[in-house]
Amino acid sequence: MSVLPILAYGDPLLKTKAKPIDKSYPGLATLIDDMWETMYRAQGVGLAAPQVGKSIRLFIIDASPFADDEPTLVGFKKVFINAEILEQTGKPWFFNEGCLSFPELREDIQRKPNIRIKYQDELFNDFEEEYSGLAARIILHEYDHTEGILMTDHFPQLKRTLLKRKLTSISKGMISVNYPMRFPAKKR
Ligand code: NI
Repeated sequence: MSVLPILAYGDPLLKTKAKPIDKSYPGLATLIDDMWETMYRAQGVGLAAPQVGKSIRLFIIDASPFADDEPTLVGFKKVFINAEILEQTGKPWFFNEGCLSFPELREDIQRKPNIRIKYQDELFNDFEEEYSGLAARIILHEYDHTEGILMTDHFPQLKRTLLKRKLTSISKGMISVNYPMRFPAKKR
C-alpha cells in the first residue's frame, strides 16, 4: 500500500463531476487500499477518489474516531461506489467541517440531517440505506467531492470573500501540513 498525494484546493479536478465505474476499472482494489492508507496517514475520516487525482465515483469513510460522541458510528467503515443521494430531509444543522484538501481550514457548514443513499460496495453489491446525524454529514461531504462540489461552495459569498487570501495560500502550498499533498499553484 502507498500513501498518495492529496490534491489541494484550486486543482480543477476537484471541481469536476466524477464518472461512474464498473468492475472492470483497472487497479481498483489497489486504489482502495492506497486510499485507506492515505486517509489514515492524514488522520481523516473520509476521502474521495478525486482528492487523489482519480475522477471516479468512489469514496471511503471510517467514522470510528467519532464513535465516542456518537455510538452509532462504532465500526462505521465503508467503501461507497457510484453513490447516488436519493433524498435529503430534515431541518438543516451546522457542523464544523474540515477537508483534507483544505489544511488549516475549518468552517461551520449547514446540511440536512437525514439521507437515503443508493451505492455499491467494493464487490459491486447494491445497497440502499438511510443515515442520519454525523454519518449522513460525512457521507454528504464525501459525496459532494464526487459531484465536484467543495466545502467552499457551501459558504455564503461574504465568507468566501473573507477567506480569499487563505484559500490562495492553500492552493500555493503556503501552509503547514504533515501529509503529502499536491498544490496546483505552487511555484517550482
Ligand atoms: Ni473533503
